Amino acid sequence: MTDSAELTPRPAIAVAGCAGFIGQHVTHRLLTDGYRVMGADNFCEDLYPADDRRRAIAAMSHTENFEFTEMDLREGVPAGFADCSIWINMAGLAGQARSWEIPDAYESANVDLAATLFEAAQSRGVSRFIHASTSSVYGEYAEGDEDQPFNPCSPYGTTKVTAEGVLTAAASTTDLVILRFFSVYGPGQRTDMGFFKIINAALDGEEVPVHDRPGLMRDFTYVGDVAGAVLAVMDAKVSPTVFNVASSEPTSLDEALDLIDELTGGTMRRRFVPTPHGLQTRTSGDTTRLRAATSWRPHTPLRTGISNQVAWQREMQSR
Ligand SMILES: NC(=O)c1ccc[n+]([C@@H]2O[C@H](COP(=O)([O-])OP(=O)(O)OC[C@H]3O[C@@H](n4cnc5c(N)ncnc54)[C@H](O)[C@@H]3O)[C@@H](O)[C@H]2O)c1
Repeated sequence: MTDSAELTPRPAIAVAGCAGFIGQHVTHRLLTDGYRVMGADNFCEDLYPADDRRRAIAAMSHTENFEFTEMDLREGVPAGFADCSIWINMAGLAGQARSWEIPDAYESANVDLAATLFEAAQSRGVSRFIHASTSSVYGEYAEGDEDQPFNPCSPYGTTKVTAEGVLTAAASTTDLVILRFFSVYGPGQRTDMGFFKIINAALDGEEVPVHDRPGLMRDFTYVGDVAGAVLAVMDAKVSPTVFNVASSEPTSLDEALDLIDELTGGTMRRRFVPTPHGLQTRTSGDTTRLRAATSWRPHTPLRTGISNQVAWQREMQSR
């Protein structure tokens, strides 16, 4: 006998910022799991070039169940978003260093966009809105659970604190789930991010710039595990709340560099450069709350994740 549940197509999900690093992984995962995805992105280039994102979306546009609209989400939402009872906001401007240079753009992309999108979601009766936030809301030392106080040390972190506050204050009819991601890495990583630059320099035999401040630690979190967390909180049984999304295995930058060196051929040359102002010193996320609320667990050890990213960057270089 055919199970009628098998005949019921999975619902449509709206993904804002679906062309971005994390947005692409979330979109792939949703499509693989049988959901329809209504995606939107404006291929913003304030942080890094959009050529690869455009190619990725062009390749995906032939995928059944995927509908893409190029548009600025501060100005409205695609008509197809109205069919979606869950909206996922992966759109915005990430990166601490760049936020000192263009703080107004960060304010607009992270606060105005989130507020406009959330208002549109509530007015369309959306049941759940999942919003990407960051460990940067905690500031220089992001160590512990979700009750750590806000203490951002960059304009980026400040805009993400404001966005969380605005959405929380506005939430009335739509469940709001906020996810605070910790240092996401893996294939597709933004070209402005540390691992991407270090791996490319190591593969090219160029000197690798290394921050001169000792003791830097990061809770590196694999992008596939992050996408898994997003899907885990789509479940209606999760109460609207805030969750850390981290591997909970903090690693020193030295250790990460050694691993990258080993996985790129063992000939890395390091050059110490001044550590930019506003960089986090230590991050280590406690994910007890997310583990208790869902069956989500991070599965990807750092060695496997870096190996996947190195393979992806090797392939990109050979194109
Ligand atoms: N990558 C990380 O390590 C990390 C860590 C913590 C939090 N986050 C958060 O996760 C989210 C996604 O980060 P990412 O690394 O994938 O960044 P990304 O820049 O790769 O993706 C963001 C996407 O949003 C789109 N976008 C920006 N402004 C837009 C607008 N006005 N209209 C439509 N689309 C717009 C961009 O074009 C881009 O494709 C961000 O909110 C970021 O703050 C990322």
